[in-house]
Amino acid sequence: MSLPFESIPGPPSLPWIGAHTLLSGTPLDNLPALVDRYGELVRFQLWGSRFLLVASPSQIHEILVEKAAEFPKAHQETAILERFLGRGLLTNEGASHRRQRKLAQPAFHARRIQGYAETMVSYAQNTSECWRTGEVRNLAEDLRQITLYIVAKTLFNADREMMAEFVDEIGGAMLAVQEISDIDFGAWLSWPAWLPTQHNRRRRQTVKTLDATIERVLAERQSQAVNGVLPDFGDLLSMLLHARDEEGEPMDKQQLRDELVTIFLAGHETTAHALTWTFYLLGQHPKIAAELHDEVDTVLQGRSPTLDDLPRLPSLASVIKEALRLHPPAWMLSTREPPLATTVGGYTVPAQTKVLISPWVQHHLEPYFPHPKRFLPARWTPDFEERLPRYAYLPFGGGPRICIGNSFAMMEMQLLLATLLQRFVLTPLPDQAITPRPLITLSPHPGLQVHVQIRA
Ligand code: HEM
Repeated sequence: MSLPFESIPGPPSLPWIGAHTLLSGTPLDNLPALVDRYGELVRFQLWGSRFLLVASPSQIHEILVEKAAEFPKAHQETAILERFLGRGLLTNEGASHRRQRKLAQPAFHARRIQGYAETMVSYAQNTSECWRTGEVRNLAEDLRQITLYIVAKTLFNADREMMAEFVDEIGGAMLAVQEISDIDFGAWLSWPAWLPTQHNRRRRQTVKTLDATIERVLAERQSQAVNGVLPDFGDLLSMLLHARDEEGEPMDKQQLRDELVTIFLAGHETTAHALTWTFYLLGQHPKIAAELHDEVDTVLQGRSPTLDDLPRLPSLASVIKEALRLHPPAWMLSTREPPLATTVGGYTVPAQTKVLISPWVQHHLEPYFPHPKRFLPARWTPDFEERLPRYAYLPFGGGPRICIGNSFAMMEMQLLLATLLQRFVLTPLPDQAITPRPLITLSPHPGLQVHVQIRA
């Protein structure tokens, strides 16, 4: 027998509105405060919807892993993202998601991504070649461009020269996707997409930009066909282009477009944010930054970093894990919504309850992370990691919807950080008011201005 949903603790509700205390302030404060006050399972109402915030690692495991099929992504939220992404991996569900994920997975296997290491390093080197001592740069934007070029090259074999045409537009499109979706997520009702409102026009323009980029990448690949046969570069694009279903049919054009747009968007900005936050934190902790410079110099001895160096750069890995803890770029997983009543932690969860799981909330829980607000990379000892309950730390989510680019991103962040630390001292300008902006991703707002110094 499960316990009634209503017996889960939660904040008081006003008629119609619901938990009015959540209407002011930011979710980055409100959600952890709920957990502090009511425990690791919190129930609340808001504007007629029923919510369950889950912060217990074992119950997160129950939802994301054991009962993943009972907790698909919430339809309303997915529908908003689909206006940009279509039915790519992030928004797809059920059998179609499993099939598409299986098709894309080989591009992210350990052996395959090892082959991307050189590209990651050389792209970071080439892109930063023009940086000069004394100049001030918006590092957030630089890192966004580097990570975009890397995704395009490694997964679609589209090189930097070609992508340079689109890099600014994609930056604008990225922001538009997030700002438009944020408005739509919070909207009472959704205006029809055909209405010529400014909001809808911006959305259409954004989709146009994304489509044009994908068309350019596909046209380039088509132009490389020999006697009508497309080359097989062994990259993700080749895998998708050569995939055949049971009837021997290729993936339809719309599905292909949706997968490519999804990978483009999911695959660069998250990593760029994580690295920007890392430099921001290093700027606030010059002693840790100096130790990291030392580690990189001692291990690399002036050589370019390679994959084989990473196990010998333990502080680099700890700094990245700690930055991902303090500022998880995916601060909130997609809302889950059971279509049928089910249970979590022994409580009934009625159908259509919106289930919230937030890496931001998890990563600030004192029992798992003593002094949760402090930047303490040294906490990441093997012993600490072994004792940490699974799903207390989940920057990449978990279960069948875990980030497909998890290992790709971890490798990329370490290689890019090592490459840039080896060549530069990047010091954030003092007195910058940088705040985490919780849209779909957690961006450092309004960017990070750094002073550049080339290392001797
Ligand atoms: C620091 C970098 C990254 C972070 C923090 C991150 C985080 C996440 C998280 C938390 C999810 C799961 C969302 C959920 O369950 O609601 C996810 C899904 C996904 N990520 Fe990442 N990601 C990163 C980098 C990447 C990269 C580099 C790629 C591709 C090159 C990528 C592609 C995807 C895709 C396609 C999905 C959907 C997977 C599915 O549902 O099957 N991500 N990511």
